[in-house]
Amino acid sequence: MLRAFVQIVSLAGFNSFLLAHIGNVHCEGPDAEKSTGVAPVAEPKKVCHAEHTVEDEYSLHMPLDLKCDACRIVAYVLTEGFKNVSEKAKARSKTKQRRTFAEHQILEFVENTCSHKGYFKKYGLVVVNKTRRLSGRGLETYRNTGVWTGGLWPMRLSSMCTQYTGELGEWEVFHAWENGQYLEDFICRNEEMPHICPPLSQLLTAN
Ligand SMILES: *[C@@H]1O[C@H](CO)[C@@H](O)[C@H](O)[C@H]1NC(C)=O
Ligand SMILES: *[C@@H]1O[C@H](CO)[C@@H](O)[C@H](O)[C@H]1NC(C)=O
Repeated sequence: MLRAFVQIVSLAGFNSFLLAHIGNVHCEGPDAEKSTGVAPVAEPKKVCHAEHTVEDEYSLHMPLDLKCDACRIVAYVLTEGFKNVSEKAKARSKTKQRRTFAEHQILEFVENTCSHKGYFKKYGLVVVNKTRRLSGRGLETYRNTGVWTGGLWPMRLSSMCTQYTGELGEWEVFHAWENGQYLEDFICRNEEMPHICPPLSQLLTAN
C-alpha cells in the first residue's frame, strides 16, 4: 500500500527555479489539495513525490528537513566502521585483548571512513507517509525500491560525516562508541550540537 505513495523522484524537476524552498512533497490525485497531515486510506491514484528543488540539485548542503536522517546515517556508518576496525584488531592480536588505538590512528580512520563515498552511495531520497526522507541501511525507511539514489546525496552525507566528527572530535566519537554509547544519540542528539535530531521522546509521538 505504501508503494502507492512512493515514486522515484524525477530528475527533470526544474520548475521551481525561482522558488527554491525545501522539504516539499507534492501529491497528485484525489484530495491533492487537502493537507491534513494524515496519510489517507488506500487511494491508488494518488502519487506523492519529493519536489526537487534547486537546492536539492546543486547545493552541497544537506536540506534541513533531511538533516536528522542524514546524521543518523553518519552515526550508523561510523558505528559499523568502529565495529569493523575493532574486530579486525582483535583478530590480529594474539592475546585477544581489546587493542587500544592511538589517537592519530582513529583520526585517520574516521577521516577515511567519512570520505569513503562507497559507504554512502546507496542512500537516497524516498517519500514515506507524505514526508520526504532519506532511505538506506540503518534507517527504518530502508527499502529496495522507489529510492532515488545518486546525485549529490553521497557527497553531502560524506561531508556531514567529516563536519560532525570534526566538531565533536574524532577521538571523542570513537571513545563514546567504545564506552557503549549509542552514536546516534552522541552525534545527533548531543547538547553541544545544534539540534540535529529532536529528542527521542518527541520523535516517538510525532506520528
Ligand atoms: C564493515 O564491514 C561490513 C562487512 O564486511 C561491510 O559491509 C561494511 O561496508 C563495513 N563498513 C565500514 C564503515 O567499514
Ligand atoms: C508511516 O506511518 C505509519 C502509520 O502511522 C507508521 O506505522 C510507519 O512507521 C510510518 N513509516 C515510517 C517509515 O515512518
